[in-house]
Amino acid sequence: MDAPVAIAKLDAGLASIWPCKLALDEVRKLLALAVHAQLARKTAEAILTLDHTCVCEESIRLAQSAVDACQSISDYSSSAQDKLGEVFERQGVKACQSQKKTKLAELQHQQLFIRIGRDKIDQAIEIATTNGFYKAHNISGANWECYKRFNKRIDLIKRDDVTTRLRLAWHPNKVYNRIPQFLRPATKSVEPIRLSAKLWWISLLTSPIFSLAKKRSRQDKQTDWPFLGTPMELIPSLLEFANITPSDTLLDIGCGDGRIVLEAAKTYGCKSIGIEKDPDLANLAKKRVESADFQNQVTIISGVATELSYTDVSVVFLFLPVRSITNLIDSLLEKLTPGSRIIVHEQADLPNSLKPSASVPFFCKSGITVAHIWIV
Ligand SMILES: C[S@@+](CC[C@H](N)C(=O)[O-])C[C@H]1O[C@@H](n2cnc3c(N)ncnc32)[C@H](O)[C@@H]1O
Repeated sequence: MDAPVAIAKLDAGLASIWPCKLALDEVRKLLALAVHAQLARKTAEAILTLDHTCVCEESIRLAQSAVDACQSISDYSSSAQDKLGEVFERQGVKACQSQKKTKLAELQHQQLFIRIGRDKIDQAIEIATTNGFYKAHNISGANWECYKRFNKRIDLIKRDDVTTRLRLAWHPNKVYNRIPQFLRPATKSVEPIRLSAKLWWISLLTSPIFSLAKKRSRQDKQTDWPFLGTPMELIPSLLEFANITPSDTLLDIGCGDGRIVLEAAKTYGCKSIGIEKDPDLANLAKKRVESADFQNQVTIISGVATELSYTDVSVVFLFLPVRSITNLIDSLLEKLTPGSRIIVHEQADLPNSLKPSASVPFFCKSGITVAHIWIV
Protein backbone atom coordinates (compact mmCIF):
# COMPACT_ATOMS: atom_id res chain seq x y z
CA MET A 1 0.00 0.00 0.00
CA ASP A 2 1.29 3.47 -0.89
CA ALA A 3 2.60 5.53 1.99
CA PRO A 4 0.82 8.87 2.39
CA VAL A 5 2.32 11.69 0.36
CA ALA A 6 3.47 13.72 3.34
CA ILE A 7 5.56 10.85 4.71
CA ALA A 8 6.89 9.94 1.29
CA LYS A 9 8.09 13.50 0.75
CA LEU A 10 9.84 13.67 4.09
CA ASP A 11 11.39 10.25 3.59
CA ALA A 12 12.67 11.19 0.14
CA GLY A 13 14.54 14.03 1.83
CA LEU A 14 15.91 11.63 4.40
CA ALA A 15 17.08 9.07 1.86
CA SER A 16 19.34 11.60 0.17
CA ILE A 17 21.13 12.33 3.43
CA TRP A 18 24.08 10.45 4.90
CA PRO A 19 22.82 7.59 7.14
CA CYS A 20 22.35 8.93 10.63
CA LYS A 21 21.81 7.39 14.04
CA LEU A 22 18.56 9.15 14.79
CA ALA A 23 16.44 8.68 11.69
CA LEU A 24 13.52 10.88 10.77
CA ASP A 25 11.03 8.17 11.64
CA GLU A 26 12.54 7.94 15.09
CA VAL A 27 12.28 11.67 15.59
CA ARG A 28 8.68 11.68 14.38
CA LYS A 29 7.83 8.92 16.82
CA LEU A 30 9.54 10.78 19.66
CA LEU A 31 7.71 13.99 18.88
CA ALA A 32 4.36 12.23 18.54
CA LEU A 33 4.89 10.68 21.97
CA ALA A 34 6.01 14.03 23.30
CA VAL A 35 2.83 15.75 22.06
CA HIS A 36 0.73 13.08 23.75
CA ALA A 37 2.71 13.44 26.97
CA GLN A 38 2.52 17.24 26.68
CA LEU A 39 6.30 17.42 26.54
CA ALA A 40 6.68 18.39 22.90
CA ARG A 41 8.83 21.42 23.55
CA LYS A 42 11.18 19.67 25.97
CA THR A 43 11.67 16.73 23.63
CA ALA A 44 12.13 18.92 20.57
CA GLU A 45 14.70 21.01 22.41
CA ALA A 46 16.49 17.83 23.46
CA ILE A 47 16.64 16.69 19.83
CA LEU A 48 18.10 20.05 18.83
CA THR A 49 20.87 19.74 21.40
CA LEU A 50 21.99 16.35 20.01
CA ASP A 51 25.21 16.18 18.08
CA HIS A 52 24.12 17.24 14.59
CA THR A 53 26.14 14.51 12.93
CA CYS A 54 23.80 12.00 14.65
CA VAL A 55 20.56 13.61 13.47
CA CYS A 56 19.46 14.15 9.90
CA GLU A 57 18.68 17.58 8.58
CA GLU A 58 14.93 16.90 8.23
CA SER A 59 14.78 15.80 11.85
CA ILE A 60 16.38 19.04 12.97
CA ARG A 61 13.87 20.99 10.89
CA LEU A 62 10.97 19.03 12.40
CA ALA A 63 12.25 19.57 15.96
CA GLN A 64 12.84 23.26 15.27
CA SER A 65 9.31 23.70 13.96
CA ALA A 66 7.98 22.02 17.13
CA VAL A 67 9.95 24.44 19.31
CA ASP A 68 8.79 27.42 17.20
CA ALA A 69 5.16 26.28 17.38
CA CYS A 70 5.29 25.91 21.17
CA GLN A 71 6.86 29.35 21.47
CA SER A 72 4.34 31.12 19.25
CA ILE A 73 1.40 29.45 21.00
CA SER A 74 2.70 30.59 24.36
CA ASP A 75 3.46 34.13 23.01
CA TYR A 76 -0.02 34.38 21.54
CA SER A 77 -1.73 33.34 24.72
CA SER A 78 0.23 35.68 27.02
CA SER A 79 -0.28 38.67 24.74
CA ALA A 80 -4.00 37.91 24.25
CA GLN A 81 -4.33 37.55 28.03
CA ASP A 82 -2.57 40.89 28.60
CA LYS A 83 -4.78 42.63 26.06
CA LEU A 84 -7.97 41.23 27.51
CA GLY A 85 -6.76 42.06 31.03
CA GLU A 86 -6.28 45.70 29.93
CA VAL A 87 -9.80 45.83 28.47
CA PHE A 88 -11.17 44.53 31.79
CA GLU A 89 -9.16 47.04 33.82
CA ARG A 90 -10.23 49.96 31.62
CA GLN A 91 -13.83 49.07 32.38
CA GLY A 92 -13.30 48.80 36.11
CA VAL A 93 -12.77 45.04 36.47
CA LYS A 94 -9.48 44.28 38.17
CA ALA A 95 -8.01 41.25 36.47
CA CYS A 96 -4.83 39.28 36.81
CA GLN A 97 -3.42 36.30 34.97
CA SER A 98 -4.26 33.11 36.72
CA GLN A 99 -1.28 31.04 37.76
CA LYS A 100 -3.16 27.81 37.39
CA LYS A 101 -2.17 26.87 33.87
CA THR A 102 -2.13 23.28 32.84
CA LYS A 103 0.58 21.85 30.65
CA LEU A 104 -2.08 20.79 28.20
CA ALA A 105 -3.47 24.30 28.03
CA GLU A 106 -0.06 25.75 27.27
CA LEU A 107 0.66 23.25 24.57
CA GLN A 108 -2.61 22.49 22.96
CA HIS A 109 -5.05 25.26 22.34
CA GLN A 110 -5.25 28.90 22.94
CA GLN A 111 -6.58 28.99 26.46
CA LEU A 112 -6.61 32.23 28.41
CA PHE A 113 -6.78 32.26 32.20
CA ILE A 114 -7.86 35.39 34.00
CA ARG A 115 -8.71 35.90 37.66
CA ILE A 116 -11.28 38.47 38.67
CA GLY A 117 -12.99 39.56 41.88
CA ARG A 118 -16.09 37.57 42.81
CA ASP A 119 -18.27 40.69 42.74
CA LYS A 120 -17.27 41.45 39.14
CA ILE A 121 -18.28 38.19 37.50
CA ASP A 122 -21.30 39.50 35.61
CA GLN A 123 -19.46 42.59 34.44
CA ALA A 124 -16.47 40.54 33.28
CA ILE A 125 -18.71 38.16 31.36
CA GLU A 126 -20.44 41.08 29.69
CA ILE A 127 -17.11 42.59 28.65
CA ALA A 128 -15.87 39.23 27.37
CA THR A 129 -19.10 38.82 25.40
CA THR A 130 -18.67 42.17 23.70
CA ASN A 131 -15.16 41.01 22.79
CA GLY A 132 -16.44 38.01 20.87
CA PHE A 133 -16.58 35.33 23.59
CA TYR A 134 -19.77 33.42 24.28
CA LYS A 135 -21.00 31.06 26.93
CA ALA A 136 -20.72 27.64 25.33
CA HIS A 137 -23.51 25.41 26.50
CA ASN A 138 -22.68 22.46 28.67
CA ILE A 139 -19.52 23.90 30.07
CA SER A 140 -21.01 26.63 32.19
CA GLY A 141 -24.47 25.26 32.90
CA ALA A 142 -26.57 25.68 36.03
CA ASN A 143 -28.49 28.77 36.86
CA TRP A 144 -26.33 31.84 37.26
CA GLU A 145 -26.87 32.44 40.93
CA CYS A 146 -26.13 28.85 41.72
CA TYR A 147 -23.04 28.92 39.56
CA LYS A 148 -21.60 32.00 41.20
CA ARG A 149 -22.36 30.76 44.65
CA PHE A 150 -20.91 27.32 44.34
CA ASN A 151 -18.36 27.43 41.63
CA LYS A 152 -15.12 29.23 41.03
CA ARG A 153 -14.82 29.61 37.33
CA ILE A 154 -16.60 29.88 34.01
CA ASP A 155 -15.35 29.07 30.55
CA LEU A 156 -16.19 31.18 27.55
CA ILE A 157 -15.39 30.38 23.96
CA LYS A 158 -14.39 32.54 21.01
CA ARG A 159 -14.71 30.85 17.68
CA ASP A 160 -12.19 32.16 15.21
CA ASP A 161 -9.60 30.58 12.96
CA VAL A 162 -8.41 29.08 16.20
CA THR A 163 -10.98 28.45 18.89
CA THR A 164 -9.92 30.32 22.04
CA ARG A 165 -11.20 29.40 25.45
CA LEU A 166 -11.27 32.01 28.17
CA ARG A 167 -11.40 30.75 31.72
CA LEU A 168 -12.56 33.37 34.19
CA ALA A 169 -11.75 32.34 37.74
CA TRP A 170 -12.67 33.90 41.06
CA HIS A 171 -12.63 32.98 44.74
CA PRO A 172 -15.64 30.84 45.58
CA ASN A 173 -17.77 31.57 48.62
CA LYS A 174 -16.15 30.08 51.69
CA VAL A 175 -18.22 27.36 53.34
CA TYR A 176 -17.45 27.19 57.09
CA ASN A 177 -20.32 24.99 58.07
CA ARG A 178 -20.15 21.29 57.17
CA ILE A 179 -23.90 21.06 56.56
CA PRO A 180 -24.12 23.51 53.65
CA GLN A 181 -21.00 21.86 52.27
CA PHE A 182 -22.77 18.51 52.39
CA LEU A 183 -25.80 19.99 50.66
CA ARG A 184 -23.68 21.68 48.06
CA PRO A 185 -24.27 20.28 44.57
CA ALA A 186 -21.48 19.85 42.12
CA THR A 187 -22.04 22.19 39.18
CA LYS A 188 -22.05 19.28 36.79
CA SER A 189 -24.89 17.69 38.74
CA VAL A 190 -26.91 20.88 38.62
CA GLU A 191 -26.58 21.18 34.87
CA PRO A 192 -28.90 18.49 33.63
CA ILE A 193 -31.81 19.10 35.97
CA ARG A 194 -31.37 22.82 36.61
CA LEU A 195 -32.82 23.11 40.08
CA SER A 196 -32.51 26.43 41.81
CA ALA A 197 -29.92 26.61 44.58
CA LYS A 198 -32.64 26.95 47.20
CA LEU A 199 -34.13 23.61 46.27
CA TRP A 200 -31.00 21.61 46.61
CA TRP A 201 -31.89 20.05 49.90
CA ILE A 202 -34.45 18.05 47.90
CA SER A 203 -31.59 16.18 46.33
CA LEU A 204 -31.19 14.30 49.60
CA LEU A 205 -34.66 12.90 49.15
CA THR A 206 -34.29 12.35 45.48
CA SER A 207 -31.03 10.50 45.26
CA PRO A 208 -32.10 8.41 42.24
CA ILE A 209 -32.55 11.62 40.24
CA PHE A 210 -29.24 12.80 41.59
CA SER A 211 -27.36 9.74 40.38
CA LEU A 212 -29.14 9.85 37.03
CA ALA A 213 -28.10 13.47 36.70
CA LYS A 214 -24.54 12.53 37.53
CA LYS A 215 -24.56 9.83 34.88
CA ARG A 216 -25.99 12.24 32.32
CA SER A 217 -23.40 14.87 33.09
CA ARG A 218 -20.60 12.30 32.76
CA GLN A 219 -21.93 11.43 29.32
CA ASP A 220 -22.20 15.11 28.43
CA LYS A 221 -18.65 15.65 29.51
CA GLN A 222 -17.43 13.04 27.10
CA THR A 223 -19.50 14.02 24.12
CA ASP A 224 -20.27 17.70 24.45
CA TRP A 225 -16.80 19.09 24.58
CA PRO A 226 -17.01 22.68 23.39
CA PHE A 227 -16.32 23.17 19.72
CA LEU A 228 -12.62 23.31 18.97
CA GLY A 229 -11.92 23.62 15.29
CA THR A 230 -8.76 22.38 13.63
CA PRO A 231 -6.51 25.47 13.32
CA MET A 232 -6.76 26.70 9.71
CA GLU A 233 -2.97 26.59 9.36
CA LEU A 234 -2.89 22.86 10.11
CA ILE A 235 -5.57 21.93 7.58
CA PRO A 236 -3.38 21.87 4.41
CA SER A 237 -0.84 19.49 6.04
CA LEU A 238 -3.60 17.22 7.35
CA LEU A 239 -5.32 17.05 3.96
CA GLU A 240 -2.02 16.41 2.21
CA PHE A 241 -1.39 13.60 4.69
CA ALA A 242 -4.66 11.99 3.51
CA ASN A 243 -3.38 12.00 -0.08
CA ILE A 244 -6.68 13.32 -1.46
CA THR A 245 -7.44 13.30 -5.20
CA PRO A 246 -10.34 14.93 -7.12
CA SER A 247 -12.09 11.55 -7.39
CA ASP A 248 -12.27 11.14 -3.58
CA THR A 249 -15.28 11.86 -1.42
CA LEU A 250 -14.30 13.10 2.02
CA LEU A 251 -16.57 12.72 5.03
CA ASP A 252 -15.93 14.81 8.16
CA ILE A 253 -17.85 13.29 11.08
CA GLY A 254 -18.42 16.22 13.40
CA CYS A 255 -17.61 18.88 10.82
CA GLY A 256 -18.04 21.83 13.20
CA ASP A 257 -18.14 25.04 11.16
CA GLY A 258 -17.30 23.18 7.94
CA ARG A 259 -13.71 24.33 7.57
CA ILE A 260 -12.27 20.89 6.68
CA VAL A 261 -14.91 19.91 4.11
CA LEU A 262 -14.69 23.27 2.39
CA GLU A 263 -10.88 23.37 2.28
CA ALA A 264 -10.74 19.83 0.89
CA ALA A 265 -13.19 20.72 -1.90
CA LYS A 266 -11.38 23.96 -2.70
CA THR A 267 -7.86 22.53 -2.71
CA TYR A 268 -8.38 19.10 -4.23
CA GLY A 269 -11.62 19.50 -6.20
CA CYS A 270 -13.08 16.50 -4.38
CA LYS A 271 -16.63 16.09 -3.12
CA SER A 272 -17.11 16.36 0.61
CA ILE A 273 -19.79 15.71 3.19
CA GLY A 274 -19.90 17.12 6.70
CA ILE A 275 -22.16 15.84 9.48
CA GLU A 276 -22.63 18.00 12.55
CA LYS A 277 -24.84 17.32 15.56
CA ASP A 278 -24.88 20.89 16.87
CA PRO A 279 -27.55 22.67 14.76
CA ASP A 280 -25.93 26.10 15.24
CA LEU A 281 -22.60 24.82 13.97
CA ALA A 282 -24.28 22.95 11.12
CA ASN A 283 -25.93 26.23 10.06
CA LEU A 284 -22.61 28.02 10.30
CA ALA A 285 -21.05 25.34 8.10
CA LYS A 286 -23.87 25.65 5.55
CA LYS A 287 -23.38 29.42 5.42
CA ARG A 288 -19.64 28.98 5.03
CA VAL A 289 -20.17 26.66 2.07
CA GLU A 290 -22.79 28.91 0.49
CA SER A 291 -20.75 32.06 0.78
CA ALA A 292 -17.84 30.27 -0.94
CA ASP A 293 -20.36 29.03 -3.56
CA PHE A 294 -19.36 25.38 -3.12
CA GLN A 295 -22.83 23.86 -2.64
CA ASN A 296 -22.31 21.59 -5.66
CA GLN A 297 -19.30 19.93 -4.08
CA VAL A 298 -19.96 20.18 -0.37
CA THR A 299 -22.97 18.80 1.51
CA ILE A 300 -23.61 19.66 5.15
CA ILE A 301 -25.94 17.43 7.15
CA SER A 302 -27.33 18.46 10.48
CA GLY A 303 -27.55 15.38 12.69
CA VAL A 304 -25.76 12.81 14.81
CA ALA A 305 -23.56 10.30 13.01
CA THR A 306 -23.54 6.87 14.59
CA GLU A 307 -22.10 4.88 11.71
CA LEU A 308 -21.04 5.22 8.10
CA SER A 309 -24.15 5.49 5.96
CA TYR A 310 -22.57 6.61 2.68
CA THR A 311 -21.27 4.15 0.13
CA ASP A 312 -19.00 6.36 -1.98
CA VAL A 313 -16.90 7.84 0.85
CA SER A 314 -13.16 7.23 0.40
CA VAL A 315 -11.65 9.52 3.05
CA VAL A 316 -13.01 9.94 6.57
CA PHE A 317 -11.77 12.77 8.75
CA LEU A 318 -12.22 12.68 12.53
CA PHE A 319 -11.33 15.28 15.12
CA LEU A 320 -13.43 14.00 17.99
CA PRO A 321 -12.98 12.94 21.61
CA VAL A 322 -10.86 9.78 21.86
CA ARG A 323 -13.84 7.79 23.11
CA SER A 324 -15.90 8.65 20.01
CA ILE A 325 -12.96 7.80 17.75
CA THR A 326 -12.56 4.43 19.43
CA ASN A 327 -16.26 3.71 18.96
CA LEU A 328 -16.15 4.56 15.27
CA ILE A 329 -12.89 3.12 13.92
CA ASP A 330 -13.79 -0.59 13.74
CA SER A 331 -17.04 -0.07 11.89
CA LEU A 332 -15.39 2.41 9.52
CA LEU A 333 -12.58 -0.04 8.72
CA GLU A 334 -15.18 -2.69 8.06
CA LYS A 335 -17.39 -0.59 5.80
CA LEU A 336 -14.91 1.49 3.81
CA THR A 337 -13.68 0.13 0.48
CA PRO A 338 -10.01 -0.89 0.01
CA GLY A 339 -7.74 2.10 -0.57
CA SER A 340 -9.90 4.40 1.58
CA ARG A 341 -8.20 6.41 4.31
CA ILE A 342 -9.23 7.43 7.79
CA ILE A 343 -7.50 10.49 9.20
CA VAL A 344 -7.69 11.23 12.89
CA HIS A 345 -5.93 14.04 14.66
CA GLU A 346 -5.67 14.40 18.39
CA GLN A 347 -3.43 15.78 21.10
CA ALA A 348 -4.41 12.96 23.42
CA ASP A 349 -2.98 9.46 23.22
CA LEU A 350 -5.09 6.85 21.45
CA PRO A 351 -5.72 3.44 23.04
CA ASN A 352 -3.20 0.75 22.06
CA SER A 353 -5.95 -1.31 20.48
CA LEU A 354 -6.23 1.21 17.64
CA LYS A 355 -3.36 0.56 15.32
CA PRO A 356 -2.97 3.31 12.73
CA SER A 357 -0.84 2.72 9.62
CA ALA A 358 1.22 5.80 10.55
CA SER A 359 1.24 8.65 13.10
CA VAL A 360 2.93 11.97 12.40
CA PRO A 361 3.15 15.12 14.54
CA PHE A 362 2.18 18.39 12.85
CA PHE A 363 3.08 21.83 14.10
CA CYS A 364 2.10 25.31 13.06
CA LYS A 365 2.12 28.73 14.69
CA SER A 366 -1.34 28.21 16.14
CA GLY A 367 -1.51 24.52 16.87
CA ILE A 368 0.11 21.19 17.56
CA THR A 369 -1.39 17.84 16.81
CA VAL A 370 -0.65 14.23 15.94
CA ALA A 371 -2.30 12.93 12.79
CA HIS A 372 -2.99 9.21 12.47
CA ILE A 373 -3.83 7.48 9.23
CA TRP A 374 -5.46 4.11 8.59
CA ILE A 375 -5.24 2.86 5.03
CA VAL A 376 -7.98 0.32 4.37
C1 LIG B 1 -13.50 19.02 17.76
S1 LIG B 1 -14.85 19.52 16.73
C2 LIG B 1 -14.10 19.30 15.15
C3 LIG B 1 -14.72 20.13 14.06
C4 LIG B 1 -14.09 19.98 12.69
N1 LIG B 1 -14.09 18.61 12.25
C5 LIG B 1 -12.68 20.50 12.68
O1 LIG B 1 -11.74 19.70 12.65
O2 LIG B 1 -12.51 21.73 12.69
C6 LIG B 1 -15.90 18.13 16.89
C7 LIG B 1 -17.32 18.41 16.40
O3 LIG B 1 -17.97 17.15 16.28
C8 LIG B 1 -19.34 17.28 16.64
N2 LIG B 1 -19.77 15.90 16.94
C9 LIG B 1 -19.34 15.10 17.94
N3 LIG B 1 -19.90 13.87 17.86
C10 LIG B 1 -20.69 13.88 16.75
C11 LIG B 1 -21.54 12.92 16.12
N4 LIG B 1 -21.66 11.68 16.60
N5 LIG B 1 -22.21 13.27 15.00
C12 LIG B 1 -22.09 14.51 14.50
N6 LIG B 1 -21.32 15.49 15.06
C13 LIG B 1 -20.62 15.17 16.16
C14 LIG B 1 -19.30 18.27 17.78
O4 LIG B 1 -20.54 18.93 17.91
C15 LIG B 1 -18.18 19.22 17.35
O5 LIG B 1 -18.69 20.31 16.64
